[in-house]
Amino acid sequence: MIYLGCDHGGFALKEAIRSHLEKQGLAVTDCGNTTFDSEDDFTTFVTPVVDGVLSDVNHRGILVCGTGIGVSIAANHHAGIRAALVHSVDYARLAREHNDANVLCLGGRFVDTAVALTMVDTFLNTPMNPNPKYQRRMALASGVK
Ligand code: RB5
Repeated sequence: MIYLGCDHGGFALKEAIRSHLEKQGLAVTDCGNTTFDSEDDFTTFVTPVVDGVLSDVNHRGILVCGTGIGVSIAANHHAGIRAALVHSVDYARLAREHNDANVLCLGGRFVDTAVALTMVDTFLNTPMNPNPKYQRRMALASGVK
């Protein structure tokens, strides 16, 4: 399952991502916001995405706010979440290969939609590099000795 969340700054891109994923027949849960509301707070939509991702090791999350910064800060407060704010397709690939990211964060006001959709596909289809050094580093980064 892929859990989506956004505030008003990421609403248009989140809608594009949901449509893109549904066209591929992928299972998507839209955690909102489901309408454009300039007064909403991104934190409202981070929690349900995080809860979904943490419910199964194979689940993924995609969070979009204006910059991607707020949602990445909020998501990374949760143990077990590895949220990566990415700005290019290479960042998306490396977030999976080196960091085993389980949540992709995007800045809806700063990324081209077509590029963002390619980042999403890359994030969803790239496995972690099996070299143990990456697992060791992510264990250290997560506070696991
Ligand atoms: C909302 O205006 C904006 O601050 C928010 O979408 C996000 O960019 C925060 O990090």
